[in-house]
Amino acid sequence: MVMFKITRVETTPFEGQKPGTSGLRKKVKVFIQPHYLQNFVQATFNALGADRVKGATLVVSGDGRYYSKDAIQIITKMAAANGVRRVWIGQNGLLSTPAVSAVVRERVGADGSKATGAFILTASHNPGGPHEDFGIKYNMENGGPAPEGITNKIYENTTTIKDYLIAEGLPDVDISTTGVSSFEGPGGKFDVDVFDSTSDYLKLLKSIFDFPSIQKLLSSPNFSFCYDALHGVAGIHAKRIFVEELGANESSLVNCVPKEDFGGGHPDPNLTYAKELVARMGLSKTHSEPNPPEFGAAADGDGDRNMVLGKRFFVTPSDSVAIIAANAVEAILYFSGGLKGVARSMPTSAALDVVAKHLNLKFFEVPTGWKFFCNLMDAGMCSICGEESFGTGSDHIREKDGIWAVLAWLSILAYKNKDNLGGGNLVTVEDIVRQHWATYGRHYYTRYDYENVDAGAAKELMAHLVKLQSSLDEVNKIIKGIHSDVSSVVHADEFEYKDPVDGSVSKHQGIRYLFEDGSRLVFRLSGTGSEGATIRLYIEQYEKDSSKIGRDSQEALAPLVEVALKLSKMQEYTGRSAPTVIT
Ligand code: G6P
Ligand code: ZN
Repeated sequence: MVMFKITRVETTPFEGQKPGTSGLRKKVKVFIQPHYLQNFVQATFNALGADRVKGATLVVSGDGRYYSKDAIQIITKMAAANGVRRVWIGQNGLLSTPAVSAVVRERVGADGSKATGAFILTASHNPGGPHEDFGIKYNMENGGPAPEGITNKIYENTTTIKDYLIAEGLPDVDISTTGVSSFEGPGGKFDVDVFDSTSDYLKLLKSIFDFPSIQKLLSSPNFSFCYDALHGVAGIHAKRIFVEELGANESSLVNCVPKEDFGGGHPDPNLTYAKELVARMGLSKTHSEPNPPEFGAAADGDGDRNMVLGKRFFVTPSDSVAIIAANAVEAILYFSGGLKGVARSMPTSAALDVVAKHLNLKFFEVPTGWKFFCNLMDAGMCSICGEESFGTGSDHIREKDGIWAVLAWLSILAYKNKDNLGGGNLVTVEDIVRQHWATYGRHYYTRYDYENVDAGAAKELMAHLVKLQSSLDEVNKIIKGIHSDVSSVVHADEFEYKDPVDGSVSKHQGIRYLFEDGSRLVFRLSGTGSEGATIRLYIEQYEKDSSKIGRDSQEALAPLVEVALKLSKMQEYTGRSAPTVIT
């Protein structure tokens, strides 16, 4: 058996190793500096403490972006030196973020072991490649992102770190072949287990959804399907699940071979970046598609996000979670006993609130960041949650889950069409959404992103908006001067959240302007970028009148958008006359 020694390497702190909304994300050129990754990993081990590290079983994998393979070898050697007992690696280092969560919660090793945590190597929807982003985050034993108590401690540790431990004499592991390799260190045995990336995740999904009924839908002559993984890791799971298990045609998969640089694209599933899917679905402004598929979906780089499209039809993520919640009990096996509750992030539209009210469900509004849902799910208070940022999921794991969302929609379609398969007219995605609006009202919704804005200017804009909140009279005077028919602001604040489970308080979670007619303007700074600042502006308007729910959303929201831009002095502060992305 190969023996290794433990070496203590001296180091000095790097500035700025503070985990954001979802881990530490930086340009690759930052990550590859000597000791940079090592410092962060050691700071994490130190924050977890010996109890959680000695003898631990750690999953180490990610979305396969550039630098992942090197990072896996470094982390494995550091884990061995820090007394970790086993490292589990998805074949080729590939596991989507939801698959990691599933593996942590469900997988049992050949020796009966269970995972105690995970390093996920991803910068999610940020571009990859030598000149783009890399990222790392730690997930806990429940399969969910580390809570702020831990991430703050990690950051503190990075500011004082003096040395890290690494195994010397431990060879690089072959991550392309499944199987267990054993090594011996001063503290005892150390195993590296390379396993099939999809099996455990698939097993879990099969226990949630009625696969035979989805298979029937996918093979029906009047149904067609398309899935775009944007060259991210979801592609490997998609091939196995949609093609091999559910019988979809291989040609329905687009960009499903993972690439280290995501083919040079921006692996974010929205109408701007998922260009190929958007064109295939007949939603491109420059290309006309004669016969788009009935259903299309896209994933982000690490497979936790999703965009759902119907034929020539976009489903907003806020509507998507509301529609899944409204249909879950009837259409999805896992929820047949009822829902424990539902939750959304603050900037997500109130479509879910209306469903919760109708169905008399517990409802929670949490700050942006999936970790806030995890506490609720751990406490058995919430079954389904979603975010405007193209994240949807449930308490089957503790991350959002892009493929789960697709299977949820396919289940709803299969349920609504159980008598229509084989021929005739289908109930389409668009029919389901329009029917939902007719029942619950429609939340017109749009998000404007101003990416890579000067950080100082972004802060000033936010400060200006907070200051304005002290006089609603002044705010309403400004608004009436822009559009006299826009409703009045009745409440304005910075969103603050007290976690009902652990009592922790999160402040400054976005600036809100709430209008008399239920409309909302929300301003937030993104917590996931790696360069400059990204300002997000969320605009929402509720329409109950069923004769007014069919409008074009940008047109319906135009007056509110104008109010938002003028109120915030967007162009003055940022120098931008238009957003980078509109969704
Ligand atoms: C990640 C988190 C999500 C969150 C999103 C917000 O994807 O997992 O829970 O909604 O970031 O990103 P932002 O850039 O708006 O901070
Ligand atoms: Zn992601």
